[in-house]
Amino acid sequence: MSTSLKVALSMPIKDRDFQYIRTLVRSRTGVVLTEDKTYLVESRLAFLVKEAGVSSLEKLLVKLQSESFSTLHQHVIEAMMTTETLFFRDIEPFEALKEFLLPELIEKRQSQRNLNIWSAACSSGQEPYSIAMLIREKFPQLASWKISLIASDISSKMLDLARTGCYNQHQISRGLPVELVDKYFHRLGTEWQIDRQIRHMVEFHQFNILETWPLLPAMDIIFLRNVLIYFDVSTKKEILAKVRQLLRPDGYLFLGGGETTINLDDGFEPVKLNKAIGYRLRKI
Ligand SMILES: C[S@@+](CC[C@H](N)C(=O)[O-])C[C@H]1O[C@@H](n2cnc3c(N)ncnc32)[C@H](O)[C@@H]1O
Repeated sequence: MSTSLKVALSMPIKDRDFQYIRTLVRSRTGVVLTEDKTYLVESRLAFLVKEAGVSSLEKLLVKLQSESFSTLHQHVIEAMMTTETLFFRDIEPFEALKEFLLPELIEKRQSQRNLNIWSAACSSGQEPYSIAMLIREKFPQLASWKISLIASDISSKMLDLARTGCYNQHQISRGLPVELVDKYFHRLGTEWQIDRQIRHMVEFHQFNILETWPLLPAMDIIFLRNVLIYFDVSTKKEILAKVRQLLRPDGYLFLGGGETTINLDDGFEPVKLNKAIGYRLRKI
Protein backbone atom coordinates (compact mmCIF):
# COMPACT_ATOMS: atom_id res chain seq x y z
CA MET A 1 0.00 0.00 0.00
CA SER A 2 1.39 3.46 -0.90
CA THR A 3 2.24 5.89 1.94
CA SER A 4 -0.39 8.40 0.78
CA LEU A 5 -3.04 5.68 0.76
CA LYS A 6 -2.00 4.58 4.26
CA VAL A 7 -2.20 8.19 5.51
CA ALA A 8 -5.58 8.63 3.87
CA LEU A 9 -6.88 5.43 5.42
CA SER A 10 -5.52 6.07 8.91
CA MET A 11 -8.72 7.88 9.92
CA PRO A 12 -11.98 5.90 9.62
CA ILE A 13 -14.79 7.72 7.87
CA LYS A 14 -17.33 9.38 10.18
CA ASP A 15 -20.92 8.26 9.93
CA ARG A 16 -22.17 11.67 8.74
CA ASP A 17 -19.51 11.67 5.97
CA PHE A 18 -20.51 8.14 4.95
CA GLN A 19 -24.15 9.29 4.81
CA TYR A 20 -23.10 12.26 2.64
CA ILE A 21 -21.39 9.91 0.13
CA ARG A 22 -24.40 7.56 0.17
CA THR A 23 -26.78 10.42 -0.56
CA LEU A 24 -24.51 11.83 -3.28
CA VAL A 25 -24.23 8.46 -5.04
CA ARG A 26 -27.89 7.55 -4.65
CA SER A 27 -29.24 10.88 -5.81
CA ARG A 28 -27.03 10.98 -8.91
CA THR A 29 -27.00 7.32 -9.97
CA GLY A 30 -29.74 5.42 -8.14
CA VAL A 31 -27.09 3.11 -6.67
CA VAL A 32 -27.72 2.31 -3.02
CA LEU A 33 -24.57 1.82 -0.94
CA THR A 34 -25.59 -0.40 1.95
CA GLU A 35 -24.46 0.35 5.53
CA ASP A 36 -21.82 -2.39 5.37
CA LYS A 37 -19.95 -0.55 2.60
CA THR A 38 -17.95 1.85 4.82
CA TYR A 39 -14.64 0.12 4.12
CA LEU A 40 -15.30 0.16 0.39
CA VAL A 41 -16.13 3.88 0.52
CA GLU A 42 -13.03 4.64 2.60
CA SER A 43 -10.65 2.70 0.39
CA ARG A 44 -12.04 4.08 -2.87
CA LEU A 45 -12.05 7.67 -1.58
CA ALA A 46 -8.45 7.24 -0.43
CA PHE A 47 -7.40 6.89 -4.08
CA LEU A 48 -8.89 10.33 -4.81
CA VAL A 49 -7.12 12.21 -2.01
CA LYS A 50 -4.14 13.01 -4.23
CA GLU A 51 -6.26 14.01 -7.22
CA ALA A 52 -8.17 16.44 -4.99
CA GLY A 53 -4.88 18.10 -3.93
CA VAL A 54 -5.54 17.55 -0.22
CA SER A 55 -3.58 15.64 2.40
CA SER A 56 -6.20 13.40 4.01
CA LEU A 57 -9.51 11.65 3.61
CA GLU A 58 -11.03 14.05 6.13
CA LYS A 59 -9.95 17.07 4.08
CA LEU A 60 -11.30 15.46 0.92
CA LEU A 61 -14.67 15.04 2.61
CA VAL A 62 -14.67 18.67 3.78
CA LYS A 63 -13.81 19.81 0.24
CA LEU A 64 -16.56 17.71 -1.31
CA GLN A 65 -19.19 18.98 1.12
CA SER A 66 -18.20 22.63 0.92
CA GLU A 67 -17.93 22.98 -2.86
CA SER A 68 -20.59 22.80 -5.54
CA PHE A 69 -20.83 19.76 -7.81
CA SER A 70 -17.66 19.38 -9.90
CA THR A 71 -15.56 16.83 -11.77
CA LEU A 72 -14.22 15.72 -8.39
CA HIS A 73 -17.73 14.79 -7.24
CA GLN A 74 -18.25 12.95 -10.54
CA HIS A 75 -15.01 11.02 -9.98
CA VAL A 76 -16.11 10.12 -6.45
CA ILE A 77 -19.40 8.80 -7.83
CA GLU A 78 -17.64 6.79 -10.53
CA ALA A 79 -15.23 5.36 -7.95
CA MET A 80 -18.19 4.01 -5.96
CA MET A 81 -19.60 2.01 -8.89
CA THR A 82 -19.19 -1.75 -9.06
CA THR A 83 -17.83 -2.25 -12.56
CA GLU A 84 -17.12 -5.99 -12.44
CA THR A 85 -17.72 -7.61 -15.84
CA LEU A 86 -16.29 -10.24 -18.15
CA PHE A 87 -16.55 -11.51 -21.69
CA PHE A 88 -19.62 -13.71 -22.31
CA ARG A 89 -20.66 -13.27 -18.67
CA ASP A 90 -23.21 -15.96 -17.69
CA ILE A 91 -23.03 -17.52 -21.15
CA GLU A 92 -26.78 -18.39 -21.42
CA PRO A 93 -28.06 -15.05 -22.82
CA PHE A 94 -25.38 -15.23 -25.53
CA GLU A 95 -26.40 -18.82 -26.32
CA ALA A 96 -30.02 -17.64 -26.55
CA LEU A 97 -29.00 -14.89 -28.97
CA LYS A 98 -27.15 -17.41 -31.11
CA GLU A 99 -29.69 -20.24 -31.01
CA PHE A 100 -33.03 -18.45 -31.01
CA LEU A 101 -33.22 -14.68 -31.07
CA LEU A 102 -30.89 -13.64 -33.85
CA PRO A 103 -32.15 -16.37 -36.24
CA GLU A 104 -35.74 -15.31 -35.41
CA LEU A 105 -35.03 -11.59 -35.84
CA ILE A 106 -33.08 -12.15 -39.07
CA GLU A 107 -36.14 -13.89 -40.45
CA LYS A 108 -38.52 -11.16 -39.31
CA ARG A 109 -36.42 -8.16 -40.36
CA GLN A 110 -35.58 -9.42 -43.88
CA SER A 111 -37.19 -6.39 -45.51
CA GLN A 112 -35.75 -3.67 -43.21
CA ARG A 113 -32.34 -5.39 -42.79
CA ASN A 114 -31.79 -3.49 -39.57
CA LEU A 115 -31.24 -4.56 -35.95
CA ASN A 116 -30.84 -2.40 -32.87
CA ILE A 117 -29.10 -3.80 -29.80
CA TRP A 118 -28.30 -1.91 -26.60
CA SER A 119 -25.90 -2.89 -23.84
CA ALA A 120 -26.95 -0.52 -21.05
CA ALA A 121 -24.43 -0.26 -18.18
CA CYS A 122 -21.67 -1.83 -20.30
CA SER A 123 -18.79 -1.06 -17.90
CA SER A 124 -15.43 -1.63 -19.69
CA GLY A 125 -17.05 -3.03 -22.82
CA GLN A 126 -16.73 -6.82 -22.55
CA GLU A 127 -20.51 -7.29 -22.90
CA PRO A 128 -21.04 -5.35 -26.18
CA TYR A 129 -17.81 -6.73 -27.64
CA SER A 130 -18.99 -10.26 -26.83
CA ILE A 131 -22.20 -9.54 -28.77
CA ALA A 132 -20.19 -8.05 -31.64
CA MET A 133 -17.88 -11.11 -31.85
CA LEU A 134 -20.88 -13.45 -31.71
CA ILE A 135 -22.52 -11.61 -34.63
CA ARG A 136 -19.28 -11.61 -36.63
CA GLU A 137 -18.64 -15.30 -35.93
CA LYS A 138 -22.08 -16.83 -36.32
CA PHE A 139 -24.06 -14.47 -38.53
CA PRO A 140 -21.81 -13.35 -41.41
CA GLN A 141 -24.95 -12.54 -43.42
CA LEU A 142 -25.49 -9.53 -41.10
CA ALA A 143 -22.36 -7.85 -42.52
CA SER A 144 -24.56 -6.15 -45.12
CA TRP A 145 -27.27 -5.12 -42.61
CA LYS A 146 -27.45 -1.93 -40.59
CA ILE A 147 -26.64 -3.14 -37.08
CA SER A 148 -26.71 -0.50 -34.35
CA LEU A 149 -24.88 -1.92 -31.37
CA ILE A 150 -25.08 0.82 -28.77
CA ALA A 151 -23.28 0.56 -25.42
CA SER A 152 -23.58 3.02 -22.57
CA ASP A 153 -22.52 3.54 -18.99
CA ILE A 154 -22.51 6.35 -16.46
CA SER A 155 -18.76 6.05 -15.93
CA SER A 156 -16.58 8.01 -18.34
CA LYS A 157 -13.54 6.17 -16.98
CA MET A 158 -15.05 2.78 -17.91
CA LEU A 159 -16.13 4.08 -21.30
CA ASP A 160 -12.62 5.35 -22.04
CA LEU A 161 -11.31 1.85 -21.32
CA ALA A 162 -14.09 0.29 -23.41
CA ARG A 163 -13.35 2.54 -26.39
CA THR A 164 -9.67 1.54 -26.44
CA GLY A 165 -10.70 -2.12 -26.43
CA CYS A 166 -7.54 -2.95 -24.43
CA TYR A 167 -7.63 -5.68 -21.82
CA ASN A 168 -5.01 -7.20 -19.57
CA GLN A 169 -4.15 -10.88 -19.42
CA HIS A 170 -6.51 -11.48 -16.50
CA GLN A 171 -9.46 -9.89 -18.32
CA ILE A 172 -8.66 -11.80 -21.50
CA SER A 173 -8.55 -15.11 -19.69
CA ARG A 174 -12.04 -14.66 -18.22
CA GLY A 175 -14.84 -16.01 -20.41
CA LEU A 176 -13.13 -15.62 -23.77
CA PRO A 177 -12.45 -18.79 -25.79
CA VAL A 178 -8.84 -19.00 -27.02
CA GLU A 179 -10.01 -19.19 -30.66
CA LEU A 180 -11.66 -15.77 -30.30
CA VAL A 181 -8.51 -14.27 -28.73
CA ASP A 182 -6.48 -15.61 -31.66
CA LYS A 183 -8.96 -14.37 -34.20
CA TYR A 184 -9.99 -10.95 -32.87
CA PHE A 185 -7.21 -9.66 -30.58
CA HIS A 186 -3.66 -8.49 -31.07
CA ARG A 187 -0.90 -7.74 -28.59
CA LEU A 188 -0.41 -4.10 -27.59
CA GLY A 189 2.46 -3.89 -25.09
CA THR A 190 1.45 -5.95 -22.08
CA GLU A 191 -2.22 -5.87 -23.07
CA TRP A 192 -4.47 -7.30 -25.73
CA GLN A 193 -6.45 -5.00 -28.00
CA ILE A 194 -9.61 -6.06 -29.75
CA ASP A 195 -9.37 -5.57 -33.52
CA ARG A 196 -10.68 -2.43 -35.16
CA GLN A 197 -13.34 -4.34 -37.13
CA ILE A 198 -15.00 -5.37 -33.84
CA ARG A 199 -14.38 -2.04 -32.09
CA HIS A 200 -16.09 -0.22 -34.93
CA MET A 201 -19.21 -2.33 -34.54
CA VAL A 202 -19.92 -0.76 -31.11
CA GLU A 203 -21.00 2.83 -30.52
CA PHE A 204 -20.22 3.96 -26.95
CA HIS A 205 -22.13 6.75 -25.20
CA GLN A 206 -22.00 8.09 -21.69
CA PHE A 207 -25.34 8.37 -20.04
CA ASN A 208 -27.09 7.94 -16.76
CA ILE A 209 -30.08 5.62 -17.00
CA LEU A 210 -31.62 7.45 -14.06
CA GLU A 211 -31.87 10.67 -16.04
CA THR A 212 -33.79 11.51 -19.22
CA TRP A 213 -32.62 9.11 -21.92
CA PRO A 214 -31.23 10.48 -25.15
CA LEU A 215 -33.09 9.70 -28.33
CA LEU A 216 -32.48 5.99 -28.95
CA PRO A 217 -33.92 3.83 -31.72
CA ALA A 218 -36.53 1.21 -30.80
CA MET A 219 -34.54 -1.82 -29.63
CA ASP A 220 -34.68 -5.46 -30.70
CA ILE A 221 -32.45 -6.61 -27.86
CA ILE A 222 -31.57 -4.88 -24.60
CA PHE A 223 -28.92 -6.17 -22.21
CA LEU A 224 -29.50 -4.43 -18.88
CA ARG A 225 -27.50 -6.77 -16.71
CA ASN A 226 -26.12 -6.51 -13.21
CA VAL A 227 -27.10 -2.92 -12.61
CA LEU A 228 -30.75 -3.01 -11.40
CA ILE A 229 -29.43 -5.03 -8.47
CA TYR A 230 -27.86 -1.85 -7.04
CA PHE A 231 -31.09 0.19 -7.22
CA ASP A 232 -34.02 0.42 -4.81
CA VAL A 233 -37.43 -0.93 -5.83
CA SER A 234 -38.90 2.37 -7.04
CA THR A 235 -35.83 3.08 -9.22
CA LYS A 236 -35.98 -0.45 -10.68
CA LYS A 237 -39.64 0.13 -11.56
CA GLU A 238 -38.90 3.50 -13.11
CA ILE A 239 -36.11 2.08 -15.30
CA LEU A 240 -38.14 -0.97 -16.37
CA ALA A 241 -41.03 1.28 -17.42
CA LYS A 242 -38.63 3.22 -19.65
CA VAL A 243 -37.21 -0.02 -21.08
CA ARG A 244 -40.77 -1.07 -21.95
CA GLN A 245 -41.20 2.08 -24.04
CA LEU A 246 -37.97 1.42 -25.93
CA LEU A 247 -38.30 -2.30 -26.65
CA ARG A 248 -39.88 -3.34 -29.95
CA PRO A 249 -43.04 -5.44 -29.47
CA ASP A 250 -41.13 -8.58 -30.49
CA GLY A 251 -37.86 -7.57 -28.80
CA TYR A 252 -36.16 -9.14 -25.77
CA LEU A 253 -34.68 -7.81 -22.56
CA PHE A 254 -31.95 -9.67 -20.67
CA LEU A 255 -31.24 -8.99 -17.01
CA GLY A 256 -28.45 -10.26 -14.74
CA GLY A 257 -28.69 -13.66 -13.05
CA GLY A 258 -29.93 -12.15 -9.76
CA GLU A 259 -32.40 -9.77 -11.40
CA THR A 260 -35.99 -10.11 -12.57
CA THR A 261 -39.01 -8.07 -13.66
CA ILE A 262 -41.30 -10.26 -11.52
CA ASN A 263 -43.12 -8.23 -8.85
CA LEU A 264 -41.68 -5.08 -10.41
CA ASP A 265 -43.29 -4.72 -13.81
CA ASP A 266 -46.22 -6.80 -15.09
CA GLY A 267 -45.69 -5.44 -18.57
CA PHE A 268 -42.92 -8.00 -19.06
CA GLU A 269 -43.33 -11.71 -19.42
CA PRO A 270 -40.38 -14.03 -18.70
CA VAL A 271 -39.63 -16.50 -21.48
CA LYS A 272 -37.39 -19.51 -21.06
CA LEU A 273 -34.89 -19.77 -23.91
CA ASN A 274 -33.19 -23.02 -23.08
CA LYS A 275 -31.13 -22.09 -19.98
CA ALA A 276 -31.58 -18.33 -20.37
CA ILE A 277 -34.51 -16.19 -19.31
CA GLY A 278 -35.42 -13.36 -21.64
CA TYR A 279 -38.20 -10.84 -20.99
CA ARG A 280 -40.74 -10.01 -23.68
CA LEU A 281 -43.46 -7.38 -23.67
CA ARG A 282 -46.70 -8.97 -22.48
CA LYS A 283 -49.40 -8.82 -25.14
CA ILE A 284 -52.51 -7.08 -23.83
C1 LIG B 1 -21.53 -4.58 -12.53
S1 LIG B 1 -21.39 -3.56 -13.95
C2 LIG B 1 -22.28 -4.51 -15.14
C3 LIG B 1 -21.54 -4.64 -16.45
C4 LIG B 1 -22.20 -5.59 -17.47
N1 LIG B 1 -23.55 -5.17 -17.79
C5 LIG B 1 -22.18 -7.01 -16.96
O1 LIG B 1 -23.25 -7.53 -16.60
O2 LIG B 1 -21.13 -7.62 -16.91
C6 LIG B 1 -22.53 -2.26 -13.53
C7 LIG B 1 -22.31 -0.99 -14.35
O3 LIG B 1 -23.45 -0.14 -14.14
C8 LIG B 1 -23.01 1.20 -14.26
N2 LIG B 1 -24.05 2.08 -13.67
C9 LIG B 1 -24.40 2.19 -12.37
N3 LIG B 1 -25.37 3.10 -12.24
C10 LIG B 1 -25.64 3.57 -13.48
C11 LIG B 1 -26.54 4.55 -13.98
N4 LIG B 1 -27.37 5.22 -13.17
N5 LIG B 1 -26.56 4.77 -15.31
C12 LIG B 1 -25.72 4.08 -16.15
N6 LIG B 1 -24.84 3.17 -15.73
C13 LIG B 1 -24.80 2.91 -14.41
C14 LIG B 1 -21.67 1.19 -13.51
O4 LIG B 1 -20.86 2.28 -13.86
C15 LIG B 1 -21.11 -0.16 -13.92
O5 LIG B 1 -20.20 -0.04 -15.00
